[in-house]
Amino acid sequence: AALGVVIVAAGRGERLGADRPKAFVELGGRTLLEHAVGTVVSLDRPGQLVLVVPEGRAAEALEIADAALPAERSWQISVVNGGRERHESVRNGLDALRDGIETVLVHDAARPLTPAEVFERVAEEVQRTGDGIIPAMPVVDTLKRVDIAGRVRSTADRRILAAVQTPQGFPFEVLAAAHESAQAREEAVAPSNDAPTDDAEVVQRFGGTVRTVPGDARAHKVTTPVDLLMLQGLLLADEA
Ligand code: C5P
Repeated sequence: AALGVVIVAAGRGERLGADRPKAFVELGGRTLLEHAVGTVVSLDRPGQLVLVVPEGRAAEALEIADAALPAERSWQISVVNGGRERHESVRNGLDALRDGIETVLVHDAARPLTPAEVFERVAEEVQRTGDGIIPAMPVVDTLKRVDIAGRVRSTADRRILAAVQTPQGFPFEVLAAAHESAQAREEAVAPSNDAPTDDAEVVQRFGGTVRTVPGDARAHKVTTPVDLLMLQGLLLADEA
């Protein structure tokens, strides 16, 4: 079954406070985007990879992808521009996938050390079940509902909560139809102020079923400078 992977890398990364978009920040001498691309093209199957990047970064992204491609060049790569919100960036990526893609994985460039096994686990489970599949981790903190004045209202039951990661996988037709339906709704009504923050949410609003598989601590997302330091620690541990 043909596999499509969309890596969204078009965010500005304001919370990181770097002098460039987050995906182009370096971790252990390679950009976050290089790490993510390197893992995808190492997967032991052919596929199509679409990189979604900020305007003006397409040439640089293509260079990164070319350098990462193994000699047998089993991955087809294209680069497109992102949108204002993450889900708009995903849409642009889906539009660039060719006919014949059966399973699609959407991955954040901001999760540069996500192991190849997580990509395989998610893709295999999509193909086995036909459902949306997302990697999930148990919640370790105690979670509170807090009002706008900062007063604690209640404690959430963390046994029924999960912290979810990417890659998130779907049958291609399901994810494409869900995004099209969301776009039609946005155009008919006012642009929503409850933008979906992941693809599972887009598919669930469309009525699709989404299930979890185990995530991985290494799929941790880079948001602030502390996250980069944590991932640097993981890289150093690998070298030791
Ligand atoms: O900001 P955050 O880390 O939650 O973004 C998750 C991923 O979505 C990042 O890899 C980011 O580059 C991407 N993104 C995007 N287009 C946007 C916003 C975020 O591709 N407009």
